[in-house]
Parts: sequence; structure tokens; C-alpha cells
Amino acid sequence: MEPDSRIGRMSDWSILRATHRRPLRVALLPCAGRGERAGGGRPKQYVEVAGRSVVHWTLLAFDELVGQGQLDGVAVVLSPGDEEFVQAVPPALRERLQVMPVGGATRAHSVWGGLQALAREGLGDTDWVLVHDAARCLIEPAELLRLIVACEGDAVGGLLACPVPDTLKRADALGRVQDTVPRDHLWAAQTPQMFRLGLLRDVLGRALQAGIPVTDEAGAVEWAGQAPKLVAGPADNFKLTYPDDFRRAAEVLARRSTSIGTTP
Ligand code: C5P
Repeated sequence: MEPDSRIGRMSDWSILRATHRRPLRVALLPCAGRGERAGGGRPKQYVEVAGRSVVHWTLLAFDELVGQGQLDGVAVVLSPGDEEFVQAVPPALRERLQVMPVGGATRAHSVWGGLQALAREGLGDTDWVLVHDAARCLIEPAELLRLIVACEGDAVGGLLACPVPDTLKRADALGRVQDTVPRDHLWAAQTPQMFRLGLLRDVLGRALQAGIPVTDEAGAVEWAGQAPKLVAGPADNFKLTYPDDFRRAAEVLARRSTSIGTTP
């Protein structure tokens, strides 16, 4: 794959690994979706919220952790031919990323393309990958660090998730309640999801091959018979999907910037 000098540097992870005593930790952001449900006429990760694009906000959280030495790099998966990323993320930040135009038809295919590219560029089977939706722009560095601390000693890996607070109803075809689903032990999955590169490539590759509908990395790990660790995440780490989500996200970001005395 040829590097595109406009959008970011390429890495050789094996060189970086030689300087580290621990497995590397690399974030992988699938950013190749169309996001039609957002209704904005453009991919949701590029919509502007509180003065920055959604993916710009997301990247700032990860970049802060790189600056602290807790994360070793950030890789972004784009659709081949994507022209919007360069408009959505400032050059200084782009220079610190690895950008991979290997997006696929579904999120799982985009993640798969990204994992393959990371492996080609020297990331090892025992190195960690934190897969995070570009469209979850309210993630904060402290939550990322909590996930890393909770998972790095774990045999399987894990994910941020939130216990479900509401009573759940199953609907029938007419939109009426069929039954109530007990919510005990139910969690809503979020991202990042943190697994070793070798495990994730193996299970995701096999699940896609078998035609299993995979909506998150943990789903593929479960399908292969392993139990990812649930790490309690913040309620506002939601994925921007519907028009109202963008308004809610803007409010949260405005509140945060007021509380730290800056403008976004
Ligand atoms: O569409 P969905 O809400 O599942 O998207 C979640 C994340 O996955 C988004 O950041 C989106 O850009 C990404 N995605 C992708 N490739 C696809 C579909 C979604 O990278 N084909």
C-alpha cells in the first residue's frame, strides 16, 4: 500500500516494539462508514459538532493518551478515495496518525482491513489493538486509560460497556409490546474494545468467512468461545447515529469546554 503524503505517516511497528518492554497499544478507528441514518447527507464522522468535526473530537482524546505515553499510536481506516478526512482533521494532528484507505462494505470489513494493514506493517500478534468508532466523539482520555488498565493483564481483553438502566420491551411486528426482557446482567456495548491483534485477526477473519453478522469485536471473540471483560464506561460515550445525537453531543462538548474555561 502506498503512503498518501497528504493524510498521514506510515509506521513500522516492529521498530517501535523493539524500544518497548511491554506489548504495544495501538488505537484503530473505523472511519469508513456512510452514516446515512444521521440524515446530514454526509458521513456522520465528518459532520461538524461544537466547532470541530466528529472525528476530530474523537482523535483529540486518543492523541492526548499518545502524548502521555499510554498509547503508542493511532491508525484510522478510511474508505478508498475518501476526500473528506483531510478537510475534517488539521494537518498537525494528521501527521501523528497512520491513515489506511482500506475500508470495506461493513464496519467489520473495515476493521478487518485495518487489522490486516497493521499486521503487514509489523504490529505483532501479542500487541493490543483498541478498536473505537470514529463516531463516538465523547470518549475521554481517562476512560481510555481505565480500559487499558483493566484489560492489559487479562487473557482475553475487554470493552467499555454500560449497565442497562431502563426496563426493556420486546416489540412485535405491529409495534406493540410482546414481552418484558429482564434487564439483570444486561450491558450496552460501547467502544473502545481492546484485544490482542492475533486473537482479533483470527476470530474476525473466521467469523466473516462463516458469514456471521459481526457488529462489534467482542461479538467475534464471543462467537469463538471466549468471554471478553466488561469494563463500566460512561453513559455519554454514545455513538452519534440519529440527528438528535448531534445536538446532545454538542451540548456535552459545550459543557465540558465551559467547565475547563476554554472555547472549543
Ligand atoms: O454505521 P455504524 O454506526 O455502525 O458505524 C460505526 C463506526 O464504524 C463509524 O465510525 C463508521 O465510520 C465506521 N464504519 C466503517 N466502515 C463501514 C461502516 C461503518 O468504518 N463500512
